[in-house]
Amino acid sequence: MGRLDNKIAIITGGASGMGASMAELFTKEGAIVIAADINEENLAKISELENVEGMKLDVSSDENWAAFTKAVIDKYGRIDILINNAGISSQKSPQDITDQDWAIMHKINSFGPFLGIKHVSKYMKEAGKGSIVNTSSYTAIIGSGLNSYTASKGSLRAIARAAAAELGKSNIRVNTVFPGVIETPMTANIGQFKEAMDMLVRATPMGRLGQPEEVANAILFLASDEASYITGGELVIDGGYSAQ
Ligand SMILES: NC(=O)c1ccc[n+]([C@@H]2O[C@H](COP(=O)([O-])OP(=O)(O)OC[C@H]3O[C@@H](n4cnc5c(N)ncnc54)[C@H](O)[C@@H]3O)[C@@H](O)[C@H]2O)c1
Repeated sequence: MGRLDNKIAIITGGASGMGASMAELFTKEGAIVIAADINEENLAKISELENVEGMKLDVSSDENWAAFTKAVIDKYGRIDILINNAGISSQKSPQDITDQDWAIMHKINSFGPFLGIKHVSKYMKEAGKGSIVNTSSYTAIIGSGLNSYTASKGSLRAIARAAAAELGKSNIRVNTVFPGVIETPMTANIGQFKEAMDMLVRATPMGRLGQPEEVANAILFLASDEASYITGGELVIDGGYSAQ
């Protein structure tokens, strides 16, 4: 028996990195996964997995979310799990950040998950249950990086806690994970700078970076019925980085 048998799960940013790893793991555990992403090339690849359907979605668009969730309901009848995982990052220094940089970052990393909660919770309320997990970042906890990324992930943390408080009475759980540096396409550029990489590894108590599967495993637990009394939960997955 799988840990997600018969669950219908949406994973945003499901075509790459941690999202793709979750798609693979969730289907192994019995779920049907809708991988929602803007990258059509990667969506086609992830759709080759059994029980994964890739669907195009721009998480920052209210209209996109309305049409997308309706299409999922029309085809699958319900949404049991939403993983708000799509995101972008930026290495810009505080002096270089413009209004537009700030707006785009927040539109995708903060408004996007808010929209996901808004649209999916409507159907979850009708069903009387649901589980939502958000991917924030350790930067939201330890004050790492004076930039729009850190701010957007802190905003997501606040949204998630408010959603947990609001939706608990509807039997919808909302939890959040805070990954450290995980080896995915998003962080691939760090590998080019040996000095930066060595510094990060040295600064991590476990002496290495994280792998997408290690985040996927934690999210699997929070998404599943095994976490039935956990809501408003915050789980750090960073090899001990933020414990220092
Ligand atoms: N990799 C890390 O070290 C790390 C650490 C902490 C948090 N995170 C967060 O984890 C999440 C997954 O990141 P990843 O490392 O797997 O990166 P990734 O770049 O491999 O995957 C991100 C995915 O999000 C998609 N995406 C971007 N904008 C979108 C939009 N508007 N609509 C729909 N999809 C969109 C991309 O196409 C991509 O497939 C992100 O939210 C990221 O901020 C990553």
